[in-house]
Amino acid sequence: MTKNIIVGNWKMNPRTEKEALKLFQNIAKSVARVKNTEIVICPPSLYLAGLKNLSKKIVLGAQDAFWGDVGPHTGQVSTEMLYNIGVRYVILGHSERRALGESNLDINKKIKSALSSGLTPILCIGENVRDEQHEYFNIVKGQIEECLKGIQKALILKIIFAYEPVWAISSTPNRRDATALDSKEMTIFIRKIISGLSTPEIAKGVKILYGGSVSGEDAQEFLENGGVRGLLAGKASLDEKKFLEIVKICEALKK
Ligand code: PGA
Repeated sequence: MTKNIIVGNWKMNPRTEKEALKLFQNIAKSVARVKNTEIVICPPSLYLAGLKNLSKKIVLGAQDAFWGDVGPHTGQVSTEMLYNIGVRYVILGHSERRALGESNLDINKKIKSALSSGLTPILCIGENVRDEQHEYFNIVKGQIEECLKGIQKALILKIIFAYEPVWAISSTPNRRDATALDSKEMTIFIRKIISGLSTPEIAKGVKILYGGSVSGEDAQEFLENGGVRGLLAGKASLDEKKFLEIVKICEALKK
């Protein structure tokens, strides 16, 4: 049985390493007995090394990584370096990075590099707005096709897809809630696109997560009816109680 997965994306939080340690230890304590759920915490890169040996239950993820090999890349951290300090997942293509100019081509290079270093990419896709003409389907299609260009079919199974409609993310002004039906519909569409790029079996086996203001109130609904195998939580992952609520819901569903 493959586990469902709950990812906590701390984004650029907290302010000090001391706070990061405290938050991580509190989460680690609260999930100590979790068995059926893969728990991934993605802190700012700077804190990763200090958190790496603190929990057997939590797997570390990074929020970004660079595709290049060691060399003249000022300011970058490579996928290989992350793997070498014990990181196993990397969020790629998050909407907050796309908003700073990251392109599908950049993300494509990062996915290839992550896969060859042994990291599992968590590829974020999702539209900024839902227009009445349903152009948002084409946006997501374009993101998937460009991000996966040149990646071997069999390797696509190693990528986790996180559907994050930007209009539902907690920091988006005038945000609104996405429903499990919105998610379900999009997961069917995502699998259809992946099937076209690989095989129906691979498309069926690929893990898709939902992200966008996930909380203890809607986690069950998304997991049961949203077509997903896990959740990506931002804001809720900065509060151990809220994060635990989500993990517990996921854990209970897998029993
Ligand atoms: P949120 O963030 O849960 O705070 O909406 C999710 C994300 O942006 O990854």
